[in-house]
Amino acid sequence: MLPDPQDRLIRSATAKDIAGIAAVHVRAWRSAYAGIVPEATLEVLNVERRSQMWAEARLGKRPADRPVLVAAVGDIIVGMTAAGPPRDRDMPYDAELYAINVDPDYWRQGIGRRLFLHCAERLSAMGARSLYLWVFTANGRGRRFYESLAGEPLADSTHDHEMGGTKIPEIAYGWRQMPGAAAASARL
Ligand SMILES: CC(C)(COP(=O)(O)OP(=O)(O)OC[C@H]1O[C@@H](n2cnc3c(N)ncnc32)[C@H](O)[C@@H]1OP(=O)(O)O)[C@@H](O)C(=O)NCCC(=O)NCCS
Repeated sequence: MLPDPQDRLIRSATAKDIAGIAAVHVRAWRSAYAGIVPEATLEVLNVERRSQMWAEARLGKRPADRPVLVAAVGDIIVGMTAAGPPRDRDMPYDAELYAINVDPDYWRQGIGRRLFLHCAERLSAMGARSLYLWVFTANGRGRRFYESLAGEPLADSTHDHEMGGTKIPEIAYGWRQMPGAAAASARL
């Protein structure tokens, strides 16, 4: 039987989604970051540890300016995104996208795009007018994804992200105007 399209949607994360979000994170990172993030870091990534982190994020009780959204197919979490106020004092943007991950089995189905646009819509509703994020410079897939969403690579905004004793270069992408979500349906 085909899955009910009503069961595929983007919604706010709740505490019940913690393990699903952690699993998506681990699977997306292992697929996307081999050769970018140290192997030892990817090996020690595990769902239990990520779940502990998300347990502290008070999912379901987040302030409206710090949304965590999931893409769900029935009970299965296939994508997530998190955003909120800028963590960098010197970035002249109203909000930062902290993370976006889609399960590799669901890549190139438009799920990342919908998550991104819905998150932008939530931030916009809270008054944020611009957005930025950091991406590993070597993450070509992620960069093409942001460029497809009209993100501007900020050549002057680069830094190293220290992970597992290795410095990994990152570049920021910016949207001077919050991307519009009008075209994005909540249904996947
Ligand atoms: C980046 C990521 C979130 C994209 O999710 P996704 O659901 O596959 O993306 P979408 O299907 O919505 O893609 C939207 C557009 O982005 C571009 N894009 C996405 N993946 C691409 C790829 N591998 N190569 C070229 N363009 C790509 C395309 O223009 C695509 O539109 P199209 O499929 O109609 O051509 C996903 O690959 C992922 O989780 N990667 C691992 C984690 C990560 O890198 N996160 C972002 C960095 S912080």
